[in-house]
This record gives sequence, structure tokens and C-alpha cells, in this order.
Amino acid sequence: MTLLPVPTTAIIVVAAGSGTRLGASAPKAFVGIDELSVLRHALNGVFAASPAQVIVVVPDGHQGDAETELRAAAGDRADLGRVVVGGETRQASVAAGLHALWGDITTVLVHDAARALTPPAQIDAVAAAVAPTSGVIPALPVVNTLKRVAGADVVEAVDRSELVAAQTPQGFPRDLLEAAYAAAGASGAEYTDDAALFAAAGHQVSHVTGSPLAFKITVPADLERARQLLSRSDRVAASIPRVGVGTDVHAYGGEGDLWLAGLEWPGEPALSGHSDGDAVSHAIVDALLGAAGLGDIGEHFGTSHPEYAGAHGAVFLARTREILAEAGFAIGSVSVQLQANRPRFSTRRAEAQTALSAALGAPVSVTATTTDGLGFTGRGEGVAVTAVALVLPGSAGAPSTLEQ
Ligand code: CTP
Ligand code: MG
Repeated sequence: MTLLPVPTTAIIVVAAGSGTRLGASAPKAFVGIDELSVLRHALNGVFAASPAQVIVVVPDGHQGDAETELRAAAGDRADLGRVVVGGETRQASVAAGLHALWGDITTVLVHDAARALTPPAQIDAVAAAVAPTSGVIPALPVVNTLKRVAGADVVEAVDRSELVAAQTPQGFPRDLLEAAYAAAGASGAEYTDDAALFAAAGHQVSHVTGSPLAFKITVPADLERARQLLSRSDRVAASIPRVGVGTDVHAYGGEGDLWLAGLEWPGEPALSGHSDGDAVSHAIVDALLGAAGLGDIGEHFGTSHPEYAGAHGAVFLARTREILAEAGFAIGSVSVQLQANRPRFSTRRAEAQTALSAALGAPVSVTATTTDGLGFTGRGEGVAVTAVALVLPGSAGAPSTLEQ
């Protein structure tokens, strides 16, 4: 077992609020965005950033749920995580988190669990920008026109070039942050965020550019925005086609007539193999399974599956089409190239393409070439085939265009 170096950065994830403005039945951190909670999304982001000690601060009574979320998000970094109980105010919750820091920690990031979709790069950027005597916050320019008002009256315009909107995580040198928290505790002063508390102790704070994705889930409309962002990214992933490549080689020397590209070729020398030796069909199967990430031909049709001994290529293709459909993939198209001296493929190309396309329910094109007398195909010892397949994920139950 390799021991990982002990990190010198800690991230305190404050999740102990009740979420009054969200108005859900559970504390905000435990409300679902999609099938995952606000806290789980926040922790997924935290654990996707560089390794750090992670202290999760939760309401009393929710330690067990938080442990479960922490373990699920942390994976093999679970040893870096710890759950503690928070306080009445955000400031008290951060103070509770500070008590759980390991001795080696020199940089502390404080992060709102409610900023559940914060990009991991923002966490790393803040950690990298913390200096020995100054803190750092991520912030976005203010885009709206701002006015100072008194009751119903607009008093003046506010110059927004001097303003930014603060986000988290906010990063600080540990020693100065602990001292600033001790001072705030002693004076009883409450601050709106950690940067304000740190600045009140006389220290510098700078800012780096934040991200619109790091918005805080505060009211129900924010939760809806998070839901829409997540379903959009799922849709994008689900709509990106996937490609796969497959090759197959068979030597001449089988019994009977040749079977190739789903057709019987009377009078042509047969290829040898566990099945009918149809290298075109076999290369297509590997390309399709590879594109869908569903293993390879040996796994699904190899010698451990005696039911496929002697089976024709069309049987392999039909079963492969089913395997992909069961996993939610539709077949987009397939392109195959055969390298062989024999048979003269061009005479039956159209027939082969029709047979293969019918078996897959998607267009298949086949090209053929000789190799100028070179290699085993050139010497007429066997054939070599390369296939490229394109499949479309997220198409469970979607009828293919060629389907009857
Ligand atoms: N927080 C905390 N302990 C508290 C209050 C807040 O750990 N006593 C955390 C929240 O869980 C949240 C972050 O601080 O991740 C920012 O606070 P906010 O968005 O105000 O959350 P809540 O206080 O839960 O919401 P509300 O103010 O609407 O009740
Ligand atoms: Mg609050």
C-alpha cells in the first residue's frame, strides 16, 4: 500500500444551515438537486480538486447522512474526510470546522455546500492564490446597474466597476485565520463572510475570477437553475456519438465454401475459424462493442459460448445489435475495409452492404483492396478487415432509421 503525502490544505465545507429561504422539508445540504443532494454535488467538486483535508460541518443529527455522502464522494480519499457538528450561525459553524484541522495544515479554504456546482478548478485556483499573509476570494463582476435607495426613492447610481460579487471557497493562511476567528469570538462580532472577518483583523484579501456555476442555492429558483444545468450537461454527454474500431484476420483453410460479409461465395476458398470465419462481420462486432464500451467479440461470442460454433456472421451482428440496444445504444453507421486478393469483392459489394445493413438496422459500407502482393494478404494466405462504427448513446428503445 502506498501512503499518500499528508496534505497541507484543508477545505471546510459548511453545510449546517437550515435553508430557511429554500423552504424545503430537510436542511438545504440534504435536499436533492437531481438524484444527488446539494451536499453530495458540493463534495464531488471538492474531491475532484487537488487532495486536501475535507471537514464537513452539518446540523446536529445529520452526521450519519453526511458520512455516507462523504464516503461516496471521496472514493479512495475517504481518509481525508471528517464530519463535525456546526453552530447557530455560519460563523460558529466555520469555527467548529477550524477545531478539526490537522496539525500539518497551513492553508484553509472555507466553502459553502450551497455552492454545489462550483467547478473544481475554482477550488484549486483559490488554494494556489493564498499567500502567507493574505487571503483570497473568488468573485464575479457585477453586471446589473446598481442604485442606492432610501425607501421608494432612488438616491444615486452606484459605480459597479468598483464592485464584485463574492463567492466561495475563500482561502486563508491557517494561523492568521485562526487568530482572526479567536478575535471575532472574543468580541462577539458577526461578519457576513470569512473575508470580512479576516479583513477586520487587519489582513489583506485579494480576489481571483470566480465562475457563474459557483452561484449559491438560496431560494427555490436557484435549485431549479441547478437542476436545469445538470440535466443539460447530462443531455450533452448523452448526445455525443461514440466511435469504435475493430479488426479481424482469418487464414484460408476452412471447410466448404467461403462466407464473408454476410454472404456465401460458392467456389471461393473458405476461411478457418471458431465460427464461419466471416472476418468482415467479426471486425464490425468488435467496432460496435468497442464504441459502446461493452467488451469485445471474445467476451460475448468466444469459445466459452459453444452455441456460436459455426454460426454465420449475420447471427453475430443481430446479437450485437441486441446487446447495444439493451445498453441504450443505437447504431449510427459502420464503415469496413477488406484487404484480400480474393474474392473479387466489387461484383457483390451492393449485395453485401444490403445484407450487413439489414442485420444491423443501420447503414454499412464496405470497401475492398489488395495489398500489392505484400504481407500475408498479398501472398494470399488470408484476409484482414478493419471496421469503424459510430453509435449513439441514450437511445434506449429508439427505433433505428432502417428498421421496419
Ligand atoms: N451554514 C452553516 N451553519 C449555519 C448557517 C449556514 O454551516 N448556522 C452554511 C449553509 O449550510 C450554507 C452556507 O453556510 O452552505 C451559506 O449559508 P446560507 O446560504 O445562508 O444557508 P442557510 O443558512 O442554510 O440558508 P438560509 O439563510 O436561507 O436559512
Ligand atoms: Mg443563512
